[in-house]
Amino acid sequence: MVNTPNMIQDAGELETPPREPMDAYRLESVVRELGRGTGANVGFFLSEHSNIRRLLSLIDAELSRAARQQTPDYPLVLSAIHYLTRFIDNFHHAREDGAVELAALRVPRLAAVADAVADQHESVLFTGGALWGLLDRAFADQPVLRSQVVDAGRAYSQLLRQHLDYEEEFLFPELAEVLTPDDWATIDANFGLISDPLFGPVVGERYRQLRARLQGSVPPSSR
Ligand SMILES: [Fe+2]
Ligand SMILES: [Fe+2]
Repeated sequence: MVNTPNMIQDAGELETPPREPMDAYRLESVVRELGRGTGANVGFFLSEHSNIRRLLSLIDAELSRAARQQTPDYPLVLSAIHYLTRFIDNFHHAREDGAVELAALRVPRLAAVADAVADQHESVLFTGGALWGLLDRAFADQPVLRSQVVDAGRAYSQLLRQHLDYEEEFLFPELAEVLTPDDWATIDANFGLISDPLFGPVVGERYRQLRARLQGSVPPSSR
C-alpha cells in the first residue's frame, strides 16, 4: 500500500487541515446564523450549477497535478468537497427533490424524472462520501494511495457533471413550465432558504481560502 507515492508524504507538507467528522454538520448552525438567502427557482438552481462547475474545474485541475506527481492543494480540494458534500448535497439537492416531487404531483409522467434525480442524488452523495473519506484518512496520516484519490476525484467529478447535465436537459425545463409561484413558495417554506456559505455574501470560516482562490486573489500553487 505504501510503496508508491501516497498521501502521507503530501499530508506532511500541509498546514493543519480542517478536521471534522462527516456527521458534524456544523454548517447547518452556521447558515442559520447567516440568515436566509433569496428566492428559489430554476434560475437559482442554474446559478448554483454554475458554481458547482467552477468547483469541479478547480478539483479537476488540482487532482491532475497529483496525476503528474505534483502536489495538489489538498486543503483547498478538501474545502471544495466539504462544500459539495454538505451544502450542495443537503440543500441544493434537497430543494430539487422537493421541486420535482411537487412537479410529479402535477404531471404524473415526471415521476420517472423524479426517480432518476433521486437515484442520481444518492449516487453523488455516495461517491462524494467515498472521496471525502479518502481525503479525511490522508489528513489523519493513514496510508492512502495518490492514485486512489485521483481516481475517486475523477469519478466524482464525472458523475456530478453528468448529473448537472441531466437536470439542465430533463428537469429544469419541466420545473419552469410546471411549477407556479405558489409552488416555489411552498418549496421555500418546506426547505427554508439558506445563505450560501461559499458563494454568498457572508463566507464561512472554512471556505475563505477557497473563496479567495475562486476570486483569483490566491494564485494556484506553483509546487
Ligand atoms: Fe441535483
Ligand atoms: Fe442540481
